[in-house]
This record gives sequence, structure tokens and C-alpha cells, in this order.
Amino acid sequence: MFNHLSSSFKITFAYLIFGILWILISDTLTNILSHTIENIQTVQLIKGWFFIFFSASILYFISTKLFKNLQQAKDEADEAKALLENIINNAPVRIFWKDKNGLFLGANKLLLEDIGVKDISTLLGKNDKSLHIQETSEYMQDDQYVMKFKIKKLNYIETLTDKEGNRKILNTSKVPLLNKNGEVIGIIGVFQDITQHVEIENQIKKQEALILQQSKFASMGEMIANIAHQWRQPLSIISTSATGIKVQKEMGMLTDEFEFESLDSINENVQYLSKTIEDFRNFFKEEKIKNEVDIEEILSKTLSLVSSRLKNRNINIITSYERIVFETLETELIHVFINIINNAIDAFEDVTTEKFIFIQTQQTSNAIVISIKDNAGGIDPNILNLVFDPYFTTKEFSKGTGIGLYMCKEIVVKHLHGKIDVKNVEFDYKEKSYKGCEFTIEILI
Ligand SMILES: Nc1ncnc2c1ncn2[C@@H]1O[C@H](COP(=O)(O)OP(=O)(O)O)[C@@H](O)[C@H]1O
Ligand SMILES: [Mg+2]
Repeated sequence: MFNHLSSSFKITFAYLIFGILWILISDTLTNILSHTIENIQTVQLIKGWFFIFFSASILYFISTKLFKNLQQAKDEADEAKALLENIINNAPVRIFWKDKNGLFLGANKLLLEDIGVKDISTLLGKNDKSLHIQETSEYMQDDQYVMKFKIKKLNYIETLTDKEGNRKILNTSKVPLLNKNGEVIGIIGVFQDITQHVEIENQIKKQEALILQQSKFASMGEMIANIAHQWRQPLSIISTSATGIKVQKEMGMLTDEFEFESLDSINENVQYLSKTIEDFRNFFKEEKIKNEVDIEEILSKTLSLVSSRLKNRNINIITSYERIVFETLETELIHVFINIINNAIDAFEDVTTEKFIFIQTQQTSNAIVISIKDNAGGIDPNILNLVFDPYFTTKEFSKGTGIGLYMCKEIVVKHLHGKIDVKNVEFDYKEKSYKGCEFTIEILI
């Protein structure tokens, strides 16, 4: 504004000065150079014509420039308006704006489609009540709230139910519309239809719950197999001892010493059975409370749960522990270790060389790192990135479910807020080279 005034003032002032100077100088020169009255009259006439032509040219020059600028500004404004309309109409969200009384000032195409309005003109100047939507009073309350307190209401979930009862789920944000003095003159709202998104999310949750259920059965299966292994030897000792007593008694050869020895052995083994069943029972307890544990203790509990499978297959466990005490979900962590060790035991099936599982723990500045490495040959590189997928297995139907590592990842990432990775490794141990895979679990502390 100030600029326009000063430019206009400058042009007028320059013209005024030029005019005055022209009259003064040209008149003085005419008087000096012309000696007769006729001469002066002729020169004055020429001067007058010249001045008119000169002024007209300047006027023409200035007005064309002004009109050109004006047209250019109008074109630019039209272009900006069209671009803005284009953005509003094509933005992948529903947009509307209303005045202070909640009457529609505008809305984009997507919103019109959503509420079944063909032409924007039928909406302008009306309030939400004209929309035949069940939730209108809630919408209007929200509008009033945002405008009255001049605050933003962002990303809240609400519904839109049309007169046929079709319900959509919306993610809505409303902000006050301000004039340049910062006063509230209305409201701007945007919303997204997230119905499909919510449905997909619900499906995923159901699917996850199903997998969790299946994984419980699967790990129960693996556990029962472990119990069966674990019990085979003590049961056979109990049976042998009892049979021994019976046979010797029948033959009249039973000595007190033999009887006591056998009964002690039976007792010892029954206690062992009862302890293993207690271990497994604890393992299946639904507890989600973190308690303080020693990583070494957790790993030795894990190893005792799989000890008979390890012994049967002559698998050596080589450990290198750092003493680390931290808070965690003990049962879940044991679950993860058992799954990884069980997989290593399975992988040793066709291995004839010496078998090793190396377990190492380490504490870094912000995490506890546990690595479990075997020398069973490793995982085919083509499937290395699939092993954590649900149902991915390379084992026969009766032997693999493909749930184990998926569950490990779920537990480590979602419950323990950590990371789990696997890689193939080549390494030397006691001057021999081996190949295998290494699982690394990192739990942030
Ligand atoms: N230590 C390992 N050595 C070789 N392959 C492994 C090892 N651990 C896991 N795998 C591979 O990862 C797959 C997925 O494991 P998992 O999710 O526990 O399912 P499952 O044991 O039921 O097959 C296994 O089928 C196997 O091919
Ligand atoms: Mg497995």
C-alpha cells in the first residue's frame, strides 16, 4: 500500500517538476531568441503541441505498463486459486471449512462424494443438520469446542453413519480458522476414512491371536516330546529296580543291601521326575511380570529342559557367560532359547562330526547380547530371510510347524523390546573349521 502511494507520488512529482521546468526554461528561451510577437506565438503553439504529445506518450507508456502488470497479477492470482482448488480437491483427505455459525463455506470433492452431495452449492450456507448423518450433534459440539477455546483437536476417531445405517470410521482433525488478526472466524476440518484400515488391523490381530494359540500348542508339543525324552531313562531305572527286587524276592535271594539300594534309586528317580514336571509346569505358567534374573540361571534352566535331547544326540554345550543380572520376562526368554536350541538339535540330525552349541552372553553399554551358535551346517542363504516368517519350515509335516522362530521374534521385539537376527558363520574350534548359524538376541536395558 505504502509502496503504491510513494510510486504514484514520485511519478506525479517528477511530472510536475518537468512541467514547471519546461515552461520556465522554454518560455525564457523563446523570449530571448524570438524578436517578434508572431514568432513568439508560433513557438508557443509548437511548444503546446509538443507538450500534449509528450504527455500523451508518457500517459500511454505508464498506463500500458500498469495494465500489463495488473493483468499479470490477476493471472497469477487466478493460477494460485486454481492450484489451491486443485490441491484441496485432489488431496487424499476430506476437507471442509465453515463460518463461525457452523455454516459450510466450502468442501472438497471427496467429502461431497462421502456425504452423497452432488453439487457444492447445495451445501454452502447450511449446517451439519442438513447432511442426514446420525452423528451431527457430536460434530457440531466439536466445532463449537474448537472455535470457542481456539484450540486444535487432532487425529481423533469418530464415526459417520448415513441414513441407510452404513457406518464409516473416521480419523478427524479440526482447527480454528483465523483471520489475519488472529481472531476465530470459523473452522477447518479434515478427515480420513479409515474403515478399511481398522478392519485389516482387526483381522491381523485375530490372525496373531490364532498364531499365538497355535504356537502355544506347538511349544506344548515340543515340551511333551522333551518330557518323554527326559522321563525315558528314570522310568527304565525305576522299572529295573522294582523288577530286580521282585525277582530276587521270588528267588529268595533278596538282600537288605540290594533292597535299600534299589528303593533309594527308585526314590531318587521319582524325585527327579517330579522335579522335571515342576519345571515344565512353571514354564507354562501365564506370567507376564518382569522379575530380576541372572542370565546364567536362565540359560541353565533352559539347558536342563532340553538336557536329555542334547545327551541323546551327543551334543556338547560350550558356554562363555558374563554375570548379568537384569529385569525381564523369564519364561518368555526361556521360550526363545528353547526354540533356538531345539532348532539346532534338529539341524544336527544328519551331522556325523562332533556337535557343538556355543552359548555366549555379553553386556554392552545399553544392551544384553546373547548369541547361540551351532556347527550344524547353517541355513540355505536363499531362505535365510524367511526363517522368522510364520509357518515357514523346511521340516517334514510331523516335525516342523514354522512357528518357533516367528514366536521368538514376536517375544523379543514386542515383549522384551529387543532384536533378534540370524546369520551363517564359519569358524574354527580346537583347530578344526566348522560351518553353522548364529542367532543373536539383543535386549535393551
Ligand atoms: N540352527 C539352525 N540350523 C539350520 N536351520 C535352521 C536352524 N534354525 C532354524 N532353521 C531353519 O528355520 C526354519 C524355521 O524354524 P522354526 O520357525 O523354528 O520352525 P520349525 O522348527 O517348526 O521348522 C527351520 O525349518 C529350519 O529350516
Ligand atoms: Mg523350531
